[in-house]
Amino acid sequence: MSNETRASFGGKLSAILVAAGSAIGLGSIWRFPYMAGEHGGAAFLLVYLLCVFVVGIPVMLAEFSVGRRTKMNAVGGYRSLSKPWRWLGYCGVLGALFISGYYYIVAGWSLEYMVSSFTGSLYSSPDSFTDQFSSFQASWRQVFYTFIFILLTHLIIIRGVEKGIEKASKVMMPALFIILIIMAIRVAFMPGASEGYRFFLEPDFREAFTAKTIFMAIGQAFFSLSVGMGCMVTYASYFKKDNNLTSTSFSVALLTLLVAVLAGLVIFPAVFSAGLQPSEGASLIFVTLPEIFKDMPFASAWSVVFFVLLTMASLTSTISFHEVLTAYFLEEYNISRKAATRITSALSMALCLLSLLWVFDINVLDLQGVSFFEIFDYTTANILMHLGGLFTCIFAAWKMKPQFMRDELTNYGQMRGRAFPLLYYTLRYVTPLLIIYIFLKNLGIL
Ligand code: PFF
Repeated sequence: MSNETRASFGGKLSAILVAAGSAIGLGSIWRFPYMAGEHGGAAFLLVYLLCVFVVGIPVMLAEFSVGRRTKMNAVGGYRSLSKPWRWLGYCGVLGALFISGYYYIVAGWSLEYMVSSFTGSLYSSPDSFTDQFSSFQASWRQVFYTFIFILLTHLIIIRGVEKGIEKASKVMMPALFIILIIMAIRVAFMPGASEGYRFFLEPDFREAFTAKTIFMAIGQAFFSLSVGMGCMVTYASYFKKDNNLTSTSFSVALLTLLVAVLAGLVIFPAVFSAGLQPSEGASLIFVTLPEIFKDMPFASAWSVVFFVLLTMASLTSTISFHEVLTAYFLEEYNISRKAATRITSALSMALCLLSLLWVFDINVLDLQGVSFFEIFDYTTANILMHLGGLFTCIFAAWKMKPQFMRDELTNYGQMRGRAFPLLYYTLRYVTPLLIIYIFLKNLGIL
């Protein structure tokens, strides 16, 4: 195995920053509002909050433990603990590939919006924001921006994870919080905003606890925390042995939740104020946010700052799933970091092109109106991550002895680990049973 990747992240804060950098991204700012918009607003928020604690944090701790113990990529990590379980690592690699097939495209949209805010064309065009988004969706520029995003990720990864990401996260994250807070205050003064608050904050409990809502919320918890596909295994392989895994996972989860809630507090009042539909789907933030900026003084400048930050937040996430693949190729095939990075970037571009073919009305396979983009999104957040998360619980809390998790969560007895029993039993019973129950219920089997 090559030693090139076995650098480690700086200190305690760095572990939180890089893991939060992976977690906070399009998942909280783009995907969360559109999922909440389609699945009952406040009802979805409530269930999502619960899922982060009951499902997301325990699975994250299991992944952290595997990664830091083995100091290997996802496949190597599981294999070195138990050979037959290496397939769980392969599942993660597959998940990272599928995510690459569409995440870069959405990140490219953010780049396009950053540029068109900068040139002012977004706000000077006579077309509505909805029409502008549709025409961008049907243009070659999408391919260009997707390519640029993969290139940016490539250039950072090739230098190694520890440089760049830490620094970027330190500046980006506080800035992102600040602009979201400013925007949340701004939208509070928009006419009709109160209906948005009602939609996002007053849950209909009957809608909240349906199998469908819980299923989608579990998927969103996995997606937004980057768990269930080996990403946190890979990142924890760079953690130091004195990092406190439990507090790291809680900090990451809380920061991610905060961004998602702030995003909701910005988007929904603006949606209702502008007379748009909360169930707009994937285009939701791209048609809603410009509505907020357009009447603000220095509209373009605010818009540029926001999309720069969204782009950076997306970049610290693309780096993380790119690294899952790069570390896999590098260590499993014993090739250089440069070669591993190139293979990963080329594969990512190929998959994105597959997703984009549809946009240009080129049908390679008859998928009955479903695009590869939708297939990649659906299979990662609703199949691969659920299964990956479920088997991660089974691996860490059934296959491995309790001592394995106890050692990792207490740093071999150096910390008291008072929360250990609660976390361990949640991981052993509550999380897997909930995932199985909801999965089967959603398939109509129960
Ligand atoms: N958590 C990221 C986001 O919310 O944007 C997406 C993500 C990154 C998912 C890395 C999975 C992953 F391995």
